[in-house]
Amino acid sequence: HGPELVSPTGTPTGEPEGSRSQSGDFLTTAQGARLQDTDHSLKAGRRGPTLLQDHHLREIITHFDHERIPERVVHARGAGAHGVFQSYGTGTGLTRAGFLAPDVETPVFVRFSTVVGSRGSADVVRDTRGFAVKFYTDEGTFDLVGNNIPVFFIQDAIKFPDVVHAAKPHPDREIPQAQSAHDTFWDFVSLHTEAQAHTLWFMADRGIPRSFRMMEGFGVHTFRLINNEGATALVKFHWKPVMGVHSLVWEEAQIVNGMDPDFHRRDLADAIESGNFPSWELGVQVFPDVEDEMYEGIDLLDPTKFVPEELAPVQMLGRMTLNANPKNYFAEVEQVAFHPGHLVPGIDASNDPLLHGRLFSYLDTQISRLGGPNFGQLPINRPHAPVNDMLRDGMHQSADYAGVAPYKPNSLDGGCPFHAGIDAGAFIDVPQAVQAGKKERANPASFNDHFSQPTLFYRSLTPTEQDHAAQAYAFELGKCYEQTIRERQLTALANIDADLCRKVAAELGLPVPVATEPPAEQIPSPAVSQLGQSWPVA
Ligand code: HEM
Repeated sequence: HGPELVSPTGTPTGEPEGSRSQSGDFLTTAQGARLQDTDHSLKAGRRGPTLLQDHHLREIITHFDHERIPERVVHARGAGAHGVFQSYGTGTGLTRAGFLAPDVETPVFVRFSTVVGSRGSADVVRDTRGFAVKFYTDEGTFDLVGNNIPVFFIQDAIKFPDVVHAAKPHPDREIPQAQSAHDTFWDFVSLHTEAQAHTLWFMADRGIPRSFRMMEGFGVHTFRLINNEGATALVKFHWKPVMGVHSLVWEEAQIVNGMDPDFHRRDLADAIESGNFPSWELGVQVFPDVEDEMYEGIDLLDPTKFVPEELAPVQMLGRMTLNANPKNYFAEVEQVAFHPGHLVPGIDASNDPLLHGRLFSYLDTQISRLGGPNFGQLPINRPHAPVNDMLRDGMHQSADYAGVAPYKPNSLDGGCPFHAGIDAGAFIDVPQAVQAGKKERANPASFNDHFSQPTLFYRSLTPTEQDHAAQAYAFELGKCYEQTIRERQLTALANIDADLCRKVAAELGLPVPVATEPPAEQIPSPAVSQLGQSWPVA
């Protein structure tokens, strides 16, 4: 099979090569030379000056000077854990992905995160949480890079830098570290009303989870599964915490953040260390792979929409258990690199325009964050499947590639035969019709409905949860300096639910605006009329 890859790339697990045991009788330099003294720099006489020839001193200081790498542009603060995914085998009719076959166990690494705050920010803030899982499968690495909220702010990747710039701290004061308490955030979501659905989800209690162990996870986008016969289905991925979904109330969160800003990462590490292993079931909502990519009137390519479970129940595929804490936070939690394009045979991307932007973004950002294109060779990112690629050289290359002909076909090193058909591997494009039309910068009409789903979600909350959401809006909007922004957001709330709008307006001491959209009941959305109040929030 062509040029062999020599380690470390492709070396299946075990103790990572190059790991430092930090034990032994002697301290050494980075080159392995024994050191006799590491407490004093070399000086000309006891009172100096210090000598430039002291390589040991310069090696220590130089390495220290370069210890920090850039934090992630989003999701900078996170905590991670290792675990195992056990497949129930219930997914075999849906997908040929080997890790979902009966009785297969796959090692995983998970990173939970907040989105907006910097690496040193507090855990228990009102924000979306990242829920990224790396499955080290026998057929290559599969990353499910999800969030704890099933919908996203925007519909098109071209808007991602804008929404992040609006949510990040103001450029002048560098505050706040949380997502929602400032003018630019509310300016953005009140002007770009497709963001109202996601905003409501984290104004409600899910914005302050009690624990990472008690959060749901969602792949958000629709994916396409392909089975052994080549039949396809559209799916949305869900993680269901075995402990149930729980949140903190706002007052609890304030106390917790003050007493222990590391509350979530401590909770995760302590639980695992004490043998109280957190666990989630992985499931999918399954939709027929029909040409218009709609289900019950809901556009499956619109990432601001979710499909209520009453319309498409979640079918469980397996269970993930986190059973080991990282040994080295930097090597594992910081250096891990997830990518929504890390797919395995049997799982494919849909045409969601947000997902397509993500497929470009993660590799691009990681080249800068992790210093060049070879971060896949780091122990935490190494696939557990054999690697035989034609990628060569680059910064921080640590693989020693054998062979002289990294191209196919070649007549020097032998070579892999080309494979065709459904068995050929990952990235096999399902022959899907491409919609005819002209090139244009425009959304499908179904993307223009921004309010029926927030209305549906709000009315499914219990009265207590509705009150919490109203109080959250009042608190966060109360921190805006610009009155016009508050008023514009109140109009968005009027479009979601008149009662919600009234409560928030009363708290802010502002008049109740008139809705600019027809009431949700009149929007021809089967989801609203069929579901009423029945969203099952724990
Ligand atoms: C992290 C871009 C939407 C979930 C990141 C990072 C970038 C990024 C650049 C930092 C990655 C790194 O440094 O390793 C984007 C873009 C998006 C988008 C361009 C839309 C166009 C989403 C959505 C979700 C999501 C919809 C959830 C479904 C995450 C998670 C992380 C992350 C969980 C943290 C991964 C980790 O723990 O290392 N994103 N993102 N992102 N993103 Fe996105």
